[in-house]
Amino acid sequence: MARLTGKSAVITGAADGIGHAIAEAMAKEGAHVFLGDIADAQGETFAADLRAAGCSADYVHCDVSKETDIANLIATAIAKTGRLDILVNNAAIAIGGMPVHEMTDAQWHRLIEVNLTSVFRGCKYALPHMIAQKSGAIINMASAQGHIGLDGWTAYAGAKGAVMAMTRQMAVEFGPLNIRVNSISPGTINTPMNEKVVAEIGGNLAKAWVKMHPIGRIGKPEEVAEAAVYLASDAAGFTTGIDLRVDGGLTAAPRFVPDLL
Ligand SMILES: NC(=O)c1ccc[n+]([C@@H]2O[C@H](COP(=O)([O-])OP(=O)(O)OC[C@H]3O[C@@H](n4cnc5c(N)ncnc54)[C@H](O)[C@@H]3O)[C@@H](O)[C@H]2O)c1
Repeated sequence: MARLTGKSAVITGAADGIGHAIAEAMAKEGAHVFLGDIADAQGETFAADLRAAGCSADYVHCDVSKETDIANLIATAIAKTGRLDILVNNAAIAIGGMPVHEMTDAQWHRLIEVNLTSVFRGCKYALPHMIAQKSGAIINMASAQGHIGLDGWTAYAGAKGAVMAMTRQMAVEFGPLNIRVNSISPGTINTPMNEKVVAEIGGNLAKAWVKMHPIGRIGKPEEVAEAAVYLASDAAGFTTGIDLRVDGGLTAAPRFVPDLL
């Protein structure tokens, strides 16, 4: 029996990377997935591929830095399925690799808008429906960066730390209404986001990342997706307010930055 049969799921940043893997896994587990992203051609093709594979999927343009786009994504899921069971606030961008005093105000505000305000807005528009149906599971994408320090990523880490704090807060507030709120903190995962970081920063960064993970490799998007499916499923019915680290031991190790860097 599929684990998400009959559920309606909204996933932001679903055209590529971790969001893509989550959407695919949830669709294969029986959910009707609504894919929000700004990469429209990629998102439309992905939704069509899922439908061709027998899954239920719709792509909706959604720039998470725009309140009206988030409202529209959630309204589309409600209009089509009459319910909203799962919200995955996944979309984010990586602006960093510079000391905090070299970051511009514009960079800071852009990062906060895409990585943090988007989580507030996703929850703001999803919660009234989940409250009305007396059930729901929200999954917010945090990061190992919210747990440990790495030179150059203060703003990104600040946003992810705030995502975890908001997750706990909402778990307490909405637990009595049968709405569970959890976050996931991935370690370094093989996605386009990290390909971009490696291209920008260069050097031995990719090799250093491998050394920093006790498990001896970086992660796969599918490994984060499996955690998201679990947290969204009824099997996690007693799990709320947690941050699930899918990080190959990165945050369990003493802070270790190899000489390679
Ligand atoms: N890759 C990692 O190592 C890693 C580690 C920890 C946490 N994370 C988190 O996981 C999540 C996904 O990261 P990823 O590596 O898959 O990223 P990615 O850059 O590979 O993919 C992100 C997706 O989001 C979309 N996107 C970008 N800006 C958007 C916007 N304004 N509105 C809507 N969609 C937008 C992109 O088009 C893309 O499809 C993010 O929250 C990220 O912070 C990633």
